[in-house]
Amino acid sequence: MCGIIGYIGKKKAIPVIIDGLETLEYRGYDSSGIAYYNKKKELKIIKEQGKIAILKNILNLNEESNLGIGHTRWATHGQPSRINSHPHNVGNITLVHNGIIENYEELKKHPLVKNYKFISKTDTEVACAIINSLYNENQDILKSLEESQKLLMGSYALAIIVNNDFEHLYVMKKDSPLIIGVGNKENYVASDVPAILKYTKKYILLNEGDIGIVSNKNIKVYNQKKLVKKKILEFEWDLEAGMKNGYEHFMLKEIFEQPKVIEQTIKEYINDYDFINLPDLTKYNRIDIVACGSAYHTGLIAKYWFEEYCNMEINVDIASEYRYKKNFLDKKCLLIVISQSGETADTLASLRLVNDKKIDTLAIVNVVGSSIAREAKNVLYIKAGPEISVATTKAYSAQALLLSILAFKTSVDKKIINIKEKEQIINDYHNLSLYIQDILSNTKICESIAKKIFKANDIFFLGRKIDYAIVMEGSLKLKEISYIHSEAYPSGELKHGSIALINKNTPVISVITDENIALKTISNIKETKARGAYSIVLSSLNMDNNKECYDYLIKIEHIHSLVEPILPIIYLQLISYYIAKLNKRDIDKPKNLAKSVTVE
Ligand code: AGP
Repeated sequence: MCGIIGYIGKKKAIPVIIDGLETLEYRGYDSSGIAYYNKKKELKIIKEQGKIAILKNILNLNEESNLGIGHTRWATHGQPSRINSHPHNVGNITLVHNGIIENYEELKKHPLVKNYKFISKTDTEVACAIINSLYNENQDILKSLEESQKLLMGSYALAIIVNNDFEHLYVMKKDSPLIIGVGNKENYVASDVPAILKYTKKYILLNEGDIGIVSNKNIKVYNQKKLVKKKILEFEWDLEAGMKNGYEHFMLKEIFEQPKVIEQTIKEYINDYDFINLPDLTKYNRIDIVACGSAYHTGLIAKYWFEEYCNMEINVDIASEYRYKKNFLDKKCLLIVISQSGETADTLASLRLVNDKKIDTLAIVNVVGSSIAREAKNVLYIKAGPEISVATTKAYSAQALLLSILAFKTSVDKKIINIKEKEQIINDYHNLSLYIQDILSNTKICESIAKKIFKANDIFFLGRKIDYAIVMEGSLKLKEISYIHSEAYPSGELKHGSIALINKNTPVISVITDENIALKTISNIKETKARGAYSIVLSSLNMDNNKECYDYLIKIEHIHSLVEPILPIIYLQLISYYIAKLNKRDIDKPKNLAKSVTVE
């Protein structure tokens, strides 16, 4: 996801564009740039890797200009670098892009660009070269953009300036958000509300296939070669709200982004009924998985999947421990490190330790081009987009999903899972985002549970085997945003001491998805009930004969056990969110916490 802004009008364009980029920085922050016409009608393109503050330092914010475009990048194709950052310029066309041109490799061979030498690794430069070539042929930008729509596959929000055209901005939209802000003798284009809310509340929503021609006094929108009438709408949101697309907190927004993130991640690694872009792990006889916090919890889940479906010995460790303990890896082993930010100090240190032993390393990361992504021998991205809330949700689910797909592929490679089971599992992956959508469509369950238990001093989580790994994350989510003391226990362990803490109405939240040990967990829950606990059970199994072990039952969709464990956490994220909200916590920025722990 990237941030786009454009301006044409009587103000100085540069400060408007930079200001807009700063409000869009949450959409991507690995590089940024600006293109504008100055007083002498020279086209200036200034761009740099790193945050917008770096770009600001190399700009003359007071330079006269009334027309320009800007971009803040979340790298998808091509590492973060000055060359790969936007705006891109080819000949007469300069543009910024949000989205993915899926057929960019194929288009590089298109006759329209056969003599063009690409300088960046981006799909955006390919789109720019195609549009420029069409424009050189017919000297008509509207016609060129219409022609380009037949060639560009994938998603794009484009803001474009054309050489020697000092009166217009051009925009084109497909699958990526783009709005036109309507001012008084000035107009704006932006990928999201916050970038222009400070200047105008009037806007035009662009639809699929729209091409906009924007001057300081006029806006024309075409679709399929016809001029279309566009209503001017009015924002109700304040600036802060705009960045959350109407959600009260980034955490809630990111919880609700999970269906899309799951789809995007599956698409990256499974096409229809086969695997793509995934490594062969069958050659390793041992895998160490190392991470911190929630990322570590996904490693705990993966342990069960790899052991159960791949017959592989998996060692999962917290990075701050792993980096100092005796290491047993040899050349036949693999280290997998998991990190949303790709900058967590202990995880990076563990990676460097194993890299130095010339042992294979694989990183599962969200932020493209981050330190861990760059230093691991191989990297798999989770496509979750920028995660703003300190408490991870969508990145956690995407990490768990990717580890599940990795275990699944390895099991198929080892001929443990047969073709029939493979098809059922792939079906469940393809339906996963719908199951999550179902959960999100009825948050009342989680809100009512939160109302019952938000005043508790202690909340316990129970589960066995993979269910224990799931509740580890549930307990951390609760702790870090509600500040309520919470522990997650292997359910058989509680009676070895901590059951002394169970009092009347102490909430105990249990997850039961593994039918082989369900009755064991149920009897542990009954031990807590016998001491007055308030029991909430999340289960995919039939609990009709065990009604006495819960006060509240959440039914989990029963699907393949390579996929099902990803479902309970959605409920636990929501329960934690509503408890924190009832306790009036600073949900997106919990006290003492940072989004990325880049120090030991
Ligand atoms: C999770 O909600 C926390 N924010 C924290 O535990 C986090 O998972 C941990 O710091 C690891 O971060 P990383 O994934 O960026 O390495």
